Amino acid sequence: MSDAAASDRQAAKAKMDELVSLCARRGFIFQSSEIYGGINGFWDYGPLGVELKNNLKALWWQKVVRERDDVVGIDSSIIAHPRTWEASGHVEHFTDPMVDCRACKKRFRADQLDDAPACSSREGTSEHDFTEARNFNLMLKTSIGASQDAAMEAYLRAETCQAIFNDFKRVRESSRQKIPFGIAQIGKAFRNEINPRNFTFRSREFEQAELEFFIHPSEREKWFESWLAERLAFHTALFGKDALRVRPHAKNELAHYAKQASDIEFLFPFGWQEIEGVHDRGDWDLSRHTQYSGKDLSITDEETKEKYTPMVIETSVGVDRTTLALLANGLVQEKLDDGETRTVLRLHPLVAPIKVAVLPLSKQLNEKAEKIAEDLRRVMNVAYDDSGNIGRRYRRQDEIGTPFCVTYDFESETDRQVTIRDRDTMKQERVALDGLVAYLRDRVEAPL
Ligand code: GAP
Repeated sequence: MSDAAASDRQAAKAKMDELVSLCARRGFIFQSSEIYGGINGFWDYGPLGVELKNNLKALWWQKVVRERDDVVGIDSSIIAHPRTWEASGHVEHFTDPMVDCRACKKRFRADQLDDAPACSSREGTSEHDFTEARNFNLMLKTSIGASQDAAMEAYLRAETCQAIFNDFKRVRESSRQKIPFGIAQIGKAFRNEINPRNFTFRSREFEQAELEFFIHPSEREKWFESWLAERLAFHTALFGKDALRVRPHAKNELAHYAKQASDIEFLFPFGWQEIEGVHDRGDWDLSRHTQYSGKDLSITDEETKEKYTPMVIETSVGVDRTTLALLANGLVQEKLDDGETRTVLRLHPLVAPIKVAVLPLSKQLNEKAEKIAEDLRRVMNVAYDDSGNIGRRYRRQDEIGTPFCVTYDFESETDRQVTIRDRDTMKQERVALDGLVAYLRDRVEAPL
């Protein structure tokens, strides 16, 4: 490895260490079952993390479902009929090539051996003694039913979209939608990843927000381009355009169901990586479910009487991955004019876990300041902090991404104004208490 590459790697590791440590210290994200030493590939979201992630999901739902009259939502069960996964191709195709080291017994993805740590079990060499590559199915299994003998083997869903295909006919008919239209869902997915890594980036349990948009076969290109542009605009509003790129898939890397695909990638500290995939799935899913279930999932156009199986354009974004991207993108160490450094998490106000912190300058002012916090709490998430000097309290809010701090001071008693401090510019302005709620709502709820 060249010196430049080694130093890039070190800088990426330092940035990730800083992020992981902030996330644990401030209660965004930490290892699941931490008191038992953790469990690889599983993560828990603490009080700030759950707000951040919920805000991201709400924003996606707003843009993809509520602002459109051609998309409806569902919330399906995690466990589907096992035939679903035979029809979808996951039982046969959803595999990663994997090798085992005969010496240290560790398992690696055969296509990611460059990242494998050295073998610790061989004498005189740190090289692994690999087996041939074998395909390893990534679906997690469970069994349903109390009796061991009669238990039915099932899978935890590997992607949320299969339930959308299973429910296609019922949802279309009940919501009286016509082609083109979409069905959206946010929910957990599970994959037995061989090497979970890069914090939450590759986990074994994660959330996806997926849209399956059903179209006439003649409109595939148009809708693929339109959804790709739509989703890119969403991410650009959150991240800025320089942190993103679109990477079309080469033919040989397309998933088994895809005719065309592009990834929206984000520049993580560890390099460009996919946060969202836009796929042209053709009629793969509906045709296969028709075949496996025996239920006809084709439609007949009311006007032309044409009978056809709709094609599908899919947008699939990882909620945890995008949350991680928001944290990585936002976290900066900023040098200030007085020579000090501050840690600031520049999150878009729409996703910031806490929108405003109310800070009484003195504990004597608690009663009035608490009343302000109470009024604000009815419309946004508020923190209240009366401990420590005001500079330290600002810093605590900066590092969790709170866009505004409201300080109630002795002057507020007479002039009925408060000081609002902006997280990014650190500028302060006096605002009348009467208009405070409206002033802050304007700033934290401005549509994307
Ligand atoms: N239904 C299509 C589908 O599942 P995918 O590219 O396998 O496509 C879509 O997954 C998105 O789900 C990815 O872009 C990524 O953000 C997220 N994702 C996939 N595997 C993940 C994992 N192991 N950990 C976290 N997020 C994951």
